[in-house]
Amino acid sequence: MQEIDGHTRLCGLIGNPVEHTMSPAIHNTLAKQEGRNLVYVPFHVEKGQVGQAVKGAFALNVLGLNVTVPYKSEVIEYLDGIDDMAEKIGAVNTLVRTKNGYKGYNTDITGLYCAMCSEGIRLEGEEILVLGAGGAARAAAFLCASKGAKKVYILNRTVEKAKAVEEEVNRIFHTQCASAMCTEDYKKLGTDRKYLAIQATSVGLYPDTEKAVILDREFYERIHTGFDLIYRPFCTKFMSLVREAGGQAFHGLKMLLYQGVEAYELWNGIGVEEEDIQALYGVLLKAMEI
Ligand code: ATR
Repeated sequence: MQEIDGHTRLCGLIGNPVEHTMSPAIHNTLAKQEGRNLVYVPFHVEKGQVGQAVKGAFALNVLGLNVTVPYKSEVIEYLDGIDDMAEKIGAVNTLVRTKNGYKGYNTDITGLYCAMCSEGIRLEGEEILVLGAGGAARAAAFLCASKGAKKVYILNRTVEKAKAVEEEVNRIFHTQCASAMCTEDYKKLGTDRKYLAIQATSVGLYPDTEKAVILDREFYERIHTGFDLIYRPFCTKFMSLVREAGGQAFHGLKMLLYQGVEAYELWNGIGVEEEDIQALYGVLLKAMEI
């Protein structure tokens, strides 16, 4: 633990709930690796108090904040600036202190991109299936469109929600690449090619580890790579079904890793060394085993 003195800078997480977060482990490990006098703590913020929380944090000289559920959109009106991509998606997870207030960023998206790149996954020119149409799926669909995917099929149990994501993506990126479908309609996708699939629903999350949105092998035979945003467990049902059908599959812990690293870099105006990122990943893997 960092020794706290008169120069210690504070960063933290605002959300509700925040009690199960891995973010303190990420940022306090990075600060320790670097010998930086910074500590990171979770702040449980009650409904209706997010504006006051941001204002109070600024007054207290807090260096930076992460924002989690349910405040990623609500917090925007209390910011002094917003990054382009975060504005497009309408959600921020990182606030960086500037002269008169905080500027909002979305490192969930850049973190997902870094995680995919680190696994050698390409988005440009790809045909991609996004499972889900909630906040996480929306971020994934936005990322795919912004990186020049050829097609982004959004498959969801509630097709109206998939349609809303489709419309937004196509409008914002001036494209027609997004296309909504109800989950069972994967059968209409051709079998002459294989897809990258991003699992962005909450199905399969611990303790429901035997569940997946689609169980049918016919679906998984269409997948060359499966990326699950879930990281608890490390091998989800979705991932094992992808592997059983011959594809490669990855879990979401690297997305968590890189969203944290990028936030830390923004707060401190530095680049974290690859060696330190790998060491941090080791710490996260270990923490997850407990
Ligand atoms: P997040 O912000 O983490 O993405 P969310 O907004 O609650 O969370 O979205 C959860 C996603 O998982 C949605 O796409 C949801 O489908 P619906 O839009 O039809 O609700 C999907 N999901 C959750 N439970 C599901 C289940 N049992 N079967 C299929 N999809 C499910």
